[in-house]
Amino acid sequence: MTISIVATQYGEPADSLAAVQTPVPEPGPGEVVVRVTAAGVNPFDAKQVRGQVGNDPAKLPLRIGGEAAGVVHAAGTGTEVSPGDRVVVYPATGAFAEYVTAPAPNVHAIPDGLDDDSAAALLLAGVTAADILATLGVTGDDVLLVHGGAGAVGAIVTARAVAAGATVIATASAANHDYLRGLGAIPVDYRGDLAAAVDAAAPTPVTAVADTVGSDQAIDVSLALVPADRIVSIAAWGRTGDGIVVVGGSTEESRRHRREAVPGLVADAAAGRIVIEIAGSYPLAETARALEAVSGPHPRGKYVVRP
Ligand SMILES: NC(=O)c1ccc[n+]([C@@H]2O[C@H](COP(=O)([O-])OP(=O)(O)OC[C@H]3O[C@@H](n4cnc5c(N)ncnc54)[C@H](OP(=O)(O)O)[C@@H]3O)[C@@H](O)[C@H]2O)c1
Repeated sequence: MTISIVATQYGEPADSLAAVQTPVPEPGPGEVVVRVTAAGVNPFDAKQVRGQVGNDPAKLPLRIGGEAAGVVHAAGTGTEVSPGDRVVVYPATGAFAEYVTAPAPNVHAIPDGLDDDSAAALLLAGVTAADILATLGVTGDDVLLVHGGAGAVGAIVTARAVAAGATVIATASAANHDYLRGLGAIPVDYRGDLAAAVDAAAPTPVTAVADTVGSDQAIDVSLALVPADRIVSIAAWGRTGDGIVVVGGSTEESRRHRREAVPGLVADAAAGRIVIEIAGSYPLAETARALEAVSGPHPRGKYVVRP
């Protein structure tokens, strides 16, 4: 038997998660069963459990966890991996578990040089960052303002935009400013007069905005700097009426950006061009605590859950 964490109701994670026992899954044709060594924790997981991204009772019990690293346990017919291969599963359904089953296209080899925790925490944030940059079409000529530049998504946006030659101004609390400088960005504190701080920091006018925060402050300041269609957000769902672009993998273009980004992200992480910081780990039985940690202010870096 094997253990998976599910939400039995929508609500606070501590009240809503349960460990269920099921037989070790068998792969169907084109499927891979992976023994999980680490699962990445994302704000979306907590929103899902709280019913903030849908609360259909018919979907309960809800399997949660969107990405995991591990070892191939069994491979179905028509797949190209073998038992024992180190792999990362993204997108995954039910990654907070000892075993996860995924269609073969969602199972990607982990190269040498990339550890399981980093692989488990890389792809959801990474493909989202890549989607933002591709949607904006950021080039070396841009002055890019990144809201939340030290967050999981924002740090990858920042690193890749700097690598593309763009000038990057990134917002964060003061404790993360040295980190942002290390990524090659000009840090700006979002607490206080953000418009004045960005104005003082920008060597030339801002030409594009990547928003990973979604606050009215972030969007209002951005709308004063660039046309609305030069603002791409992953969090300001309530501000689409302003003409900004919000991406979430729900259009064919967004899905294509995300799909196409996977090999480059894995290669960049293995080569150290993207560094995934791990803020902490939780045992599988404490998944609720992991979801609570990622919900509010937290130290920089990703959390992982380990079976
Ligand atoms: N649409 C999509 O496809 C998609 C995909 C992934 C994530 N998301 C969403 O995007 C958001 C960020 O995700 P994440 O994984 O990057 O989160 P994260 O790692 O927790 O990062 C959040 C960042 O936001 C910063 N921040 C907090 N309050 C702020 C404020 N008032 N103004 C400016 N910055 C502030 C924090 O900076 P300091 O620590 O320096 O304060 C932190 O670095 C979440 O809402 C998540 O659900 C959407």
